[in-house]
Amino acid sequence: TVTPAGLAVERLTRWADDFPTPGVRFADLTPVFADAEGLRLVIDALAEAGRDADVVAGIDARGFLLGAGVALALNTGVIAVRKAGKLPPPVHRQSYALEYGTAELEISADGIALAGRRVLVVDDVLATGGTLEAAAELLTRCGAEVVGAAVVLEVEALGGRKRWNHGPLTTLGSVQ
Ligand code: PRP
Ligand code: MG
Repeated sequence: TVTPAGLAVERLTRWADDFPTPGVRFADLTPVFADAEGLRLVIDALAEAGRDADVVAGIDARGFLLGAGVALALNTGVIAVRKAGKLPPPVHRQSYALEYGTAELEISADGIALAGRRVLVVDDVLATGGTLEAAAELLTRCGAEVVGAAVVLEVEALGGRKRWNHGPLTTLGSVQ
């Protein structure tokens, strides 16, 4: 289905070959978000996927650009799911696999109520799906109910969608 948001993503995404490593084609969504209409279309379309949510989780770093906007559109708050070492303790932590090695995501274990909260997870790109899955696992371990995920661009060939098992996964655009 061609949507206005999907068209904006298709028109404005900048593709960079061999970045950050040889053989990788990097989707740079900066021009999408820098465009007033592009940003509005993307935020509204992501928020549409989160009608059932009562809080939004944005994933460090590019998901932050979207998470707060989606939360405002849904009239909810936003929670930062951060890369390791950025939040003061206590934190909840979840490891996940990268192409080489592992990384960790963290959520503050103090000051935010997650038990029973209905969370929409938001990020910019779905590639292998490891990041999104780790965020959902982390939120679930904290007692939250992940009601779905909303991502701007899906790289289909990497199969991330198959890894996702936390409710509806909405993507606005896709590439092979
Ligand atoms: C990128 C992208 C997604 C993730 C997708 O983030 O923003 O979060 O990779 O990859 P995956 O589906 O294979 O897990 P990255 O970790 O490069 O960092 P950034 O958002 O801080 O730029
Ligand atoms: Mg990211």
